[in-house]
Amino acid sequence: MRTLGIETSCDETSAAVVEETGDRATPWAIRSNVIASQVPIHREWGGVVPELASRQHIRDICGVVERALDEAKTSWTDLGSVAVTQGPGLVGSLLVGVAFAKAAAAAAGLPLVAVHHLAGHIESLVLQNGELPLPSVVLVVSGGHTSLYLVERAGEYRLLSRTRDDAAGEAYDKVAKLLGLGYPGGPIVDRLAKGGNDRAVVLPTTRLTHADRNAPERKGDLDFSFSGLKTAVLRYVRAREAEVAAKAHVHDSAQGGGAAEERTSAFDPREIADICASFQRVVVTALLDRLFDAARRWQARSVGIAGGVSANSRLRAEFADRGSRRELPTFVPSLQLSTDNAAMIAAAGLRKLRAGVTSPLDFNADAALLL
Ligand code: KG4
Ligand code: ZN
Repeated sequence: MRTLGIETSCDETSAAVVEETGDRATPWAIRSNVIASQVPIHREWGGVVPELASRQHIRDICGVVERALDEAKTSWTDLGSVAVTQGPGLVGSLLVGVAFAKAAAAAAGLPLVAVHHLAGHIESLVLQNGELPLPSVVLVVSGGHTSLYLVERAGEYRLLSRTRDDAAGEAYDKVAKLLGLGYPGGPIVDRLAKGGNDRAVVLPTTRLTHADRNAPERKGDLDFSFSGLKTAVLRYVRAREAEVAAKAHVHDSAQGGGAAEERTSAFDPREIADICASFQRVVVTALLDRLFDAARRWQARSVGIAGGVSANSRLRAEFADRGSRRELPTFVPSLQLSTDNAAMIAAAGLRKLRAGVTSPLDFNADAALLL
């Protein structure tokens, strides 16, 4: 069976055609995966503007779906189902995909499957690598999420922990913004960190030991927290800016005035690289410590990392390294499958269809959908 996947939860309009292979180990094959990114639109504002995002999805969705069918050499009559992201995400954006998918499924007489966005990210690992050895612990880490899931049976995901405040990708984006590096910040910080000393700036790691007030039933000791780290970077940057300004002032007074303004506005590139490297070391360590703690606790036979931040070079390298030291197989998606895309949604949809699950035409988009 071929399914049309549709993903519009944030700032990418994506459509894909994915086919069931009949092979148990590698269940799906991607025939097309078209992604129209809105990054150039949101860059100007330093982050995603929800209203602009939904309007752009409306402009792009028809063309993106047509191209996905075209590239897959697939007509509506070749399809067996339609899968779409129901949530979580920006509700205006989700609604565009959901409304399109419902209309398409109704018009073509196809079954419709509503998919959780994070189930899609987890299934991107299977799409890329084939079925994972189970049980598996998977870290989903993106601009909106930082969560650990236990997968004991294919298609069943149990939430083990999550962030109590910012997502890791959000912390990357905020740190990049306060350093004036541009949007989205993750890839830029990743690149600049390569030239820096990761011990140059002392930054705190947050280890949570108390239960979450919002979810007291969960132990919460594997939860993440990144807002303290982001604030520490902010304090460091402000303190250094003040130091540089004071020095420039003394210097300028001695020389009889001058361009103090210019000198205070820019850190030298080496210092920026040091801040990026130090920040990245703390984030990567926090993510991997909890992932491998969870893997040990649940006796996982494999570990995975999915979502936009799984593209991070240091995270990938240290993940592979720690996995091989523990003789635990590690899985990541390709770079293209790590950020939001519809192929992963189609794969998660096929998984649900195989279990006999479809969705009625009156289901709604849900910005805070739980998995
Ligand atoms: O999964 P995704 O495309 O969208 C969400 O569902 O949020 O993830 C986007 C996030 C952004 O915060 C971006 O800065 C981050 O992933 N990201 C990275 C890297 N590439 C993307 N973070 C760190 N290092 C990277 N190389
Ligand atoms: Zn995502």
